[in-house]
Amino acid sequence: MSGQTGNIPILVMREGSGRSGGKDAQRNNIMAARTIAEAVKSSLGPKGMDKMLVDSSGDVIITSDGRTILDKMDIEHPAAKMMVEVAKTQDAEVGDGTTTAVILAGELLGKAEELINKGVHPTVIVEGYNKAADRALETLENIAIRVKPSGKEFLKKVAATSMASKLVSENKEQLAQIAVEAVLSVARKVGEDYLVDLDDIMVEKKPGESMSETKLIEGLVLDKEVVHSGMPKRVEKAKIALLVSALEIKKTEFDTKINIERPEQMDSFLREEEGMLKAMVEKLVASGANVVICQKGIDDMVQHFLARKGVLAVQRVKESDMKKLAMATSGKPVTNLEGLSKSDLGFAELVEERKMGDDKMTFIEGCKNPRSVSILIRGSDKRFLEEAERSVHDALCVVRDVVQAPKIVAGGGAPEMEVARALRAYAETLPGREQLAVRSFGEAMEIVPLTLGENAGLDPVDLLLELRTRHEKGEKWAGVDVFEGKIKDMRELGVYEPLAVKKQTIKSATEATTMILRVDDVIASGRTKAPRMPPGGMPGGGYGGMPPEY
Ligand SMILES: Nc1ncnc2c1ncn2[C@@H]1O[C@H](COP(=O)(O)OP(=O)(O)OP(=O)(O)O)[C@@H](O)[C@H]1O
Ligand SMILES: [Mg+2]
Repeated sequence: MSGQTGNIPILVMREGSGRSGGKDAQRNNIMAARTIAEAVKSSLGPKGMDKMLVDSSGDVIITSDGRTILDKMDIEHPAAKMMVEVAKTQDAEVGDGTTTAVILAGELLGKAEELINKGVHPTVIVEGYNKAADRALETLENIAIRVKPSGKEFLKKVAATSMASKLVSENKEQLAQIAVEAVLSVARKVGEDYLVDLDDIMVEKKPGESMSETKLIEGLVLDKEVVHSGMPKRVEKAKIALLVSALEIKKTEFDTKINIERPEQMDSFLREEEGMLKAMVEKLVASGANVVICQKGIDDMVQHFLARKGVLAVQRVKESDMKKLAMATSGKPVTNLEGLSKSDLGFAELVEERKMGDDKMTFIEGCKNPRSVSILIRGSDKRFLEEAERSVHDALCVVRDVVQAPKIVAGGGAPEMEVARALRAYAETLPGREQLAVRSFGEAMEIVPLTLGENAGLDPVDLLLELRTRHEKGEKWAGVDVFEGKIKDMRELGVYEPLAVKKQTIKSATEATTMILRVDDVIASGRTKAPRMPPGGMPGGGYGGMPPEY
């Protein structure tokens, strides 16, 4: 990169740096971002396809979750990376709608490119898009249906809709029921509102049985077995000691040497050690504990003594699970055994090891705090289980969204059509070029029903015409019935989504789009390696199609 004074060029950046500006930069950024949107399009909706992703170590993931697809793709182009951020923001804010947000951003950019080609300046487009987004959000608020935050009927429908587009769709009713029960049991009422922290719900998966064996457990499940075969496998009225440190004799940090000259010395040394370990067990038992859950390891000898005292023990439990255990049982995790007292113990009606497929798991049920629940997902295949876990996560998120902000909309592209209609009318009231941008925003919204229909094999032109007509007639919930291949009132099909998810798709997509449109200069520092192209490739190669001399 260089400037020029008179005849002398001034170098301001290191050799090998690159720059592309103006329309070139814009066009290439838009193309890279749209390539990403194209990549996830075919996975939208119940008739969408799954993707098989293979990472560099050969691990295979099968998913239709937008965020996961983009996460696993090795994307390098900066504008394309911003699309990955769209999915991440969407996921972090509301937990569902990631594919929709990315597709919408891609279409908004496509329409913007058409406008740029017609000579509309990007800043005008950005202004128009921002106005349109505000109006779109208002429109969604206006059409939203208010529900009761604890009304199970709609919550279940919302959860089932989020899973309709996933591998687990066959079991969606049962899983929806579980998700709703789980979220409602951890919801806390604060004033008039409810607050839900999904960290309070433990989700475990275990291969074996079928998906229909997936259960909601009133309590916690640890993917751990009881450490010693001589210990009880079941303890009722459990008093639980939660230990953060290991139950063993600490190794010194430096090397020590003990000189033993006579066998009796060895004996007394071992006895000494045994005595210390025994004292630990005495301490535990004296506190009244009959169950020990340890975040670190438990020495073999300690295990043996604990077994003799009839104490059930589990070791190497995750730190996050220790926190959940503390919450659930009202116990206090202790670091130092010396400080352990009766009041630190947690309580549960039952702690039991149960056989699950080839493994054993430990269940902690009837906890002091009734708000602790777990979902144990079952299924035959590891990859299926992983995708099921992601789908259950989506379901928990959408139920949480509605419990916290109890408004929903029907899905199937109906809300997007309604927004498109409102924006067509709104555009008429605006002057000149801004009108064009608002109209384009509205048209871009139609990509959602269009893609849902295309993935179901429907004719896009007919579909759009009929949808537009019916919305003009006031049928605001007319959407795509992807199974029957017809336009229907989505309420009849029970397809509902949180208003929060729909609003966030517009917010995330608009933010990324306007950010990409504002860029007219790409300056890349020198690299030893040529940047890789996004999937599908880009003309010009590299960032912003820089000429080869850069
Ligand atoms: N039975 C149905 N008929 C028509 N459309 C449906 C039906 N069930 C769900 N949909 C629609 O499918 C879309 C959601 O699809 P999908 O779950 O694949 O994508 P997403 O939610 O945008 O992203 P992700 O779930 O990957 O985060 C929504 O527009 C929803 O209204
Ligand atoms: Mg979804």
